[in-house]
Amino acid sequence: MTVREAIARVGARLQAAGLSEPLREAQALIAACLGWERARLIAHPDARLSARQVQRLECWARRRAAREPLAYLTRRAWFYGLELIVGRGALIPRPETELLVEVFLGWAGSLPPSVRFPPLREGNRPDSVPPARRGNLKGGVSCSPILVDAGTGTGAVALACLTHAPHWRGLGTDRSRRALRLAQANRRALGLQSRLMLVQGDWLRGLRTGAVDAVLSNPPYVLPDEWDALQPEITRYEPKGALLVPADDPMRPYRRIAQGARWALRSGGLLAFETSPRLAPLLAEQLPVWGFAQPRIERDYTGAMRVVWAVRG
Ligand SMILES: C[S@@+](CC[C@H](N)C(=O)[O-])C[C@H]1O[C@@H](n2cnc3c(N)ncnc32)[C@H](O)[C@@H]1O
Repeated sequence: MTVREAIARVGARLQAAGLSEPLREAQALIAACLGWERARLIAHPDARLSARQVQRLECWARRRAAREPLAYLTRRAWFYGLELIVGRGALIPRPETELLVEVFLGWAGSLPPSVRFPPLREGNRPDSVPPARRGNLKGGVSCSPILVDAGTGTGAVALACLTHAPHWRGLGTDRSRRALRLAQANRRALGLQSRLMLVQGDWLRGLRTGAVDAVLSNPPYVLPDEWDALQPEITRYEPKGALLVPADDPMRPYRRIAQGARWALRSGGLLAFETSPRLAPLLAEQLPVWGFAQPRIERDYTGAMRVVWAVRG
């Protein structure tokens, strides 16, 4: 089968399954199957797929027609300019989450130079920092500022922040072992092993008082009454524990993280959440009650309220 024939065949199958962009998705699947950039397909329409590639493509087309997310098939997703490894067991990073990175980078960039650019000594050079120890993140190492990504999933937020804030170190927590395995693979692929520590655990539990400079989190924020309106790609395949808030207490993840952050953050440290447009006003109302005065709401590229942040007094 040639590339041209494969595009036509897979495209027709995905169209019959009701997907909105069958041709684009067919090209993405074929490019991933061949290990090519998509542009190369256009330049080489007569290239032939091997029998093994055809078999794999058939399998992917069948799974995509059953609405398995494209990113779970190709095992790749882009986030803030980084190509990440993704897979079942962790949420696929979303473009709107990039706003959380923007808020962090904007805030970190406004810090005094002594915090932004701590003196480089043995132990806090970006390439030589030994992994921080949990509960003792600053212990004996350096004055590098530290961020925590609570519920790190594939590590997307922490890895993007650390890539663009080279003097920072980070800790990513998640209760899902499968998600942490993906975060570890991404950390390795991006060469950030020495600057990001990954720990299986419950949000911020176990952190020392005043040990960290920023807490970022994109906790689950889908309300139970929103579930049925979501696409099958999400409800059938992405982990429910990464998406759904507790039905009896939707604010629980935020409250637990904010309470942990009140304890773990230094004075003047940042707490920033991604959330839904429905929960954002409630969260902004609650943050002062939890010890974070004057919260701000940021809107994403669609104009929806998406990030709520505040600094610790
Ligand atoms: C919406 S996903 C966000 C993943 C990633 N930060 C991102 O933005 O792509 C929420 C994450 O929180 C994790 N999580 C849920 N409850 C948790 C808890 N109690 N402690 C730690 N992590 C938790 C889930 O496993 C999931 O990876």
